[in-house]
Amino acid sequence: MTKKILVLPGDGIGQEIMAEAVKVLEKLRANHGLDVEFEWGLVGGAAYDKYGTPLPEETLTRAKAADAILLGAVGAPKYESLDISVRPEKGLLGLRAELKLFSNLRPAIMYPQLVHASTLKPEVVSGLDIMIVRELTGGIYFGKPRGIRTLETGEREGFNTLVYSESEIQRIGRSAFDIAMKRNKRVCSVDKANVLECTELWREVMIEVAKDYPEVKLSHMYVDNAAMQLVRAPKQFDVIVTTNMFGDILSDEASMLTGSIGMLPSASLDAKGKGMYEPIHGSAPDIAGKNIANPLATLLSVAMMLRYSLNAPSLASRIERAVNAVLDQGLRTADIYSEGTKTVSTSEMGDAVTAALAA
Ligand code: IPM
Ligand code: MG
Repeated sequence: MTKKILVLPGDGIGQEIMAEAVKVLEKLRANHGLDVEFEWGLVGGAAYDKYGTPLPEETLTRAKAADAILLGAVGAPKYESLDISVRPEKGLLGLRAELKLFSNLRPAIMYPQLVHASTLKPEVVSGLDIMIVRELTGGIYFGKPRGIRTLETGEREGFNTLVYSESEIQRIGRSAFDIAMKRNKRVCSVDKANVLECTELWREVMIEVAKDYPEVKLSHMYVDNAAMQLVRAPKQFDVIVTTNMFGDILSDEASMLTGSIGMLPSASLDAKGKGMYEPIHGSAPDIAGKNIANPLATLLSVAMMLRYSLNAPSLASRIERAVNAVLDQGLRTADIYSEGTKTVSTSEMGDAVTAALAA
């Protein structure tokens, strides 16, 4: 049966990178038997401009009906003065919450061709293959109470709440352990259990969950140490499982190990494996519209979509092989350029990957 993909380009470079994703999917549809149809929708600033809300009802309805969602990026400086409740980021957070996409997978893989694009020494990063499992619908991002209030003294006070229930911790723990079973069977749970009660519970629950996975080795690390270890010796990690905010921060950090934030895809899954797929980078307003953004994180997100939501693992591998092939050809967008390679535009990179799909 034809699978329905909702395409949400969003803002900034979202438009450009999503065009490349669709190019690749269309090629797979034309030549490799992929049975999909596209629907388009607005989210983020683009939706705010038209409807006065970053997540219109129509987008949400389509997202619920779709088999998978492909998202570009949201946000732009012109929206920063808006009330936080209607900022572009709320569109993305609303989709994650409404669709219950609690499990966010962010693989950081070092392509051997890009070892010299990383700011870290080749011996530190070559062969790197980490999976960050970020809790995505709870924690301080969504905790209540939250807000900015004025105290009796007239001074203002900002406040947010870090809260996790046992069941929320259990389900993200299971996601991480299930993935570890298909990898190197090591899970490092990252918390701040020395200071925050909420993550003290996080640690206790992870230890409980681990009992169902006797083959997996569980370790724990405080987030400050984890941030340090990621740049000191990143290859010690297999699967990292962590809270919403720590995962946000550590995944940006991990992306730079691989040379560029333009290389990291992500999958956000619900309990049934339905998902939304997006590069982990933002809308990059500084380079939007210039046709220089790296589309590879998005194309690798398409591969994750084919694997996790559309039951087409061989087509997912086909995209990953094609990405490898264009890197072998020495083609690079500006963010991953290193001496001796050739700089190409966003669309040229997309064309090259599309052409390499045939191989
Ligand atoms: C990410 C982004 C988002 C987040 C923003 C755009 C709301 O940084 O997906 O990592 O903080 O989750
Ligand atoms: Mg982020």
